[in-house]
Amino acid sequence: MTARSSLTVVLAAGEGTRMRSALPKVLHPVAGQSLLSHVLQAAPQGQGTSLAVVVGPDHAAVEAEAKRLRPDASTFVQRERLGTAHAVLAAREAIARGADDLLIAFGDTPLISAETFARMRAPLAKGAALAVLGFRAADPTGYGRLLIENGKLVAIREQADASAEERRITLCNAGVMAFDGRHALQILDKIGNANSKGEYYLVDAVTIVRDMGLEAVVIETGEDEVRGINTKAQLAEAEGVMQAKLRKAALDAGVTLVAPETVFLAADTKFGRDVTIEPFVVIGPGVTIDDGAVIHSFSHIVQSQIGKNAQIGPYARLRPGNSLGEGSKVGNFVEMKAATLEAGVKVNHLSYIGDAHVGAKANIGAGTITCNYDGFAKHKTTIGAGAFIGTNSSLVAPVKIGSGAYIGSGSVITKDVPDNAMAVERSPQTIREGGATRYRELKTGGKTQKSGE
Ligand code: UD1
Ligand code: MG
Repeated sequence: MTARSSLTVVLAAGEGTRMRSALPKVLHPVAGQSLLSHVLQAAPQGQGTSLAVVVGPDHAAVEAEAKRLRPDASTFVQRERLGTAHAVLAAREAIARGADDLLIAFGDTPLISAETFARMRAPLAKGAALAVLGFRAADPTGYGRLLIENGKLVAIREQADASAEERRITLCNAGVMAFDGRHALQILDKIGNANSKGEYYLVDAVTIVRDMGLEAVVIETGEDEVRGINTKAQLAEAEGVMQAKLRKAALDAGVTLVAPETVFLAADTKFGRDVTIEPFVVIGPGVTIDDGAVIHSFSHIVQSQIGKNAQIGPYARLRPGNSLGEGSKVGNFVEMKAATLEAGVKVNHLSYIGDAHVGAKANIGAGTITCNYDGFAKHKTTIGAGAFIGTNSSLVAPVKIGSGAYIGSGSVITKDVPDNAMAVERSPQTIREGGATRYRELKTGGKTQKSGE
């Protein structure tokens, strides 16, 4: 057995089986992150490893996603969609660098783990030319079937080319393959397209390996780890598997989930200690929830940082870019975007706070709106510490409310308010004594008023 140190990883992430969508397949999200990003995070990295990602033509967004997560990745464009082997060979230059091992994976199997990738290389060290990742599918429809004879892997048959008998086989190809680097390019170059779809099928590597008198072996794993996403139904199934995992991890980490099956998390959600999440909460990407915070029911949160002991919801919507200080409160029917609340701020009811900075312990009354958009550009609202914003105020940005300032209810504030000043912007109230009685008489001609309908 020789030490095998160098590794080339090729990730086929071009346009495979269609999802009936304008979005490239591998950019569809599971748990708030693209399919591709899940695979990239599990893929081997480190010294001696080089990563090549194959993208479809006009897929700059896929390339950008690959580079975002793995700046070390080289990217290759597969100009035509001619099958998985054709996709892999788009990275010929990377394969030809002749690493000890070549690991191939697909961008549409987001649940794969780093451990499984590592496990795939072991048979190569023992002399196999090819290791194929297999799994038992509850419903094998659509997957390539592993044909085993006398305990040995002899071929993989794609659904479209399989006989009725072969279609009953439940041992399937997960799409991950590990090649001995010495033979990899030679094997891949022998793959033809003589099948019902006229595509270059990576799975044909198995027969070629056998014909060369070399060995191909199967490494098995569980179905949940290798679900391939070809349809929206499979995307939803993968989401279910991922959510179950994330909920369990959150519970194991000490988060209180009152009804875990109703809470949706993102793969990157971060929790402090003693966080409570009530039923029916959706947490999208980029959310951190610090110690002791409580997220009440029906809240929807993305890209926000929630401070210690903060209370959110019920029915709060946090759009991207919020930072909520310690002990702050964001109550029902409050929407926030790119807003910073310092410690102890209260926005308890029916408000929109966008592009704003709110100083410590300020109180934002019900129905307060930051008018941050003039139809052309966004503007900022700054509210000083301890300020009191009366109910139903409109703060027309750009505007600054000084610390300790007081805004009378119903005001439309268009000018800056100095520290500790009081600003009231309303028309004077008029009182007409007996006016209501006179109005009723006028309307009824002195008859008894009908009750409202
Ligand atoms: C493939 C396997 C099948 C396996 C299944 C596991 C082949 C021929 N079939 O089928 O045996 O059970 O995965 O999920 O290998 N891609 C490209 N360019 C192409 C074609 C595909 O980049 O020309 C990429 C896609 O982005 C996708 C991956 O390769 O991520 C797999 O392609 P897909 O069309 O999904 O193959 P399946 O039919 O799922
Ligand atoms: Mg697939």
